[in-house]
Amino acid sequence: MTDQKVAIVTGGARGIGAAITTGLARSGVHVAAGYSSNSRAAEELAGKLSAEGCSVSVHQGNVGVPEDCQRVVEEVLADRGRVDHLVNNAGVTVDKTMRKMTVDDWHAVLRINLSGAFYMSKAVLEHMLERGSGRIVNISSVIGQTGNVGQVNYAASKSGLFGMSQSLAREVARKGITVNCVAPGYVETEMVAAVPENVLEKIIAGIPVGRLGQAHEIARAVQFLVDDEAGYITGSVVSVNGGMDM
Ligand SMILES: NC(=O)c1ccc[n+]([C@@H]2O[C@H](COP(=O)([O-])OP(=O)(O)OC[C@H]3O[C@@H](n4cnc5c(N)ncnc54)[C@H](OP(=O)(O)O)[C@@H]3O)[C@@H](O)[C@H]2O)c1
Repeated sequence: MTDQKVAIVTGGARGIGAAITTGLARSGVHVAAGYSSNSRAAEELAGKLSAEGCSVSVHQGNVGVPEDCQRVVEEVLADRGRVDHLVNNAGVTVDKTMRKMTVDDWHAVLRINLSGAFYMSKAVLEHMLERGSGRIVNISSVIGQTGNVGQVNYAASKSGLFGMSQSLAREVARKGITVNCVAPGYVETEMVAAVPENVLEKIIAGIPVGRLGQAHEIARAVQFLVDDEAGYITGSVVSVNGGMDM
C-alpha cells in the first residue's frame, strides 16, 4: 500500500469535479477521477496535472450502475491499495415543471445524483471500516435546501443526500469515518451555462454576494472537510452559496 493518500472523485474531470481533483492532487493526494462519457476531458486533466508532478488516474464508470461503482473502487484498490476520501460529485439535471416531468426524467436524476452516491459509498465502506478511517463528502446543492421551480427531481436528489449523509455519519461516527455534504450555490460551470441568460441574470441579482461561485471555491470546502484535522465535523452541511440561503 502506498503512503500517499487516495481520493476518488466522481465526475472528477469537468466543472466542480475538475476543481476538486485539481485541489486535492496539488495538495499531494493521489486522485482517481471518475468520468462517464467524456474521456477526452479526463485524459486532458490527468495529462495537465501529471505534467505538474501530481498523481492522477482516470476511471470510466456510470455512477448510476452499482456494478460500475464496485468495479471503479476495485480498480483503485488494486492500483493504490487504499481509498482515504470519496467525493460524490457526479450529478445531472433534467429540468421540467412537475406537470411535464416524466417518470423517466425523475428516475434519470435520482439514479445518478442520489443512488450513485449510495452505490459509491457502499463500494468503499467496508474498506474504510477495515482501516478505521475515511472521509466521504457528498456534493449536494442549495436547491436541496430551498427547492426550485422546474427541479423537483434535482431538489429531491440533493435533499436526499442530506438525509443519507447524516444517517451514514451516525452509523460510522465511532469508526473514524466522517460523512458530510457541501452545498454549492450557482457555480460557473457547464451545468449553469445551460440556464437561459435572462434567467441567470435574475438569479445573480438574488445572490447577496452578487456573482456566481467559482469551482475552486467549492473545491476548497471539500479540501477542508477531508483534512485530518476535520475529524470532529460529521453529518454537517457546508454551504458555499454567496449567501443565497441564510
Ligand atoms: N454548477 C452549479 O451551479 C452547481 C450548483 C450546486 C450543485 N452542483 C453540483 O455539483 C456537481 C458538479 O456539477 P458541475 O456543475 O460541475 O456539473 P457538470 O459541469 O455538468 O459536470 C458533471 C460531471 O458529472 C459527471 N457525470 C454525469 N453523469 C454521470 C454518470 N452517470 N456517472 C458518472 N459521472 C457522471 C460528468 O462526467 P462526464 O464528463 O464523463 O459526463 C461530469 O464530470 C453536481 O452534483 C451538481 O449537481 C452544481
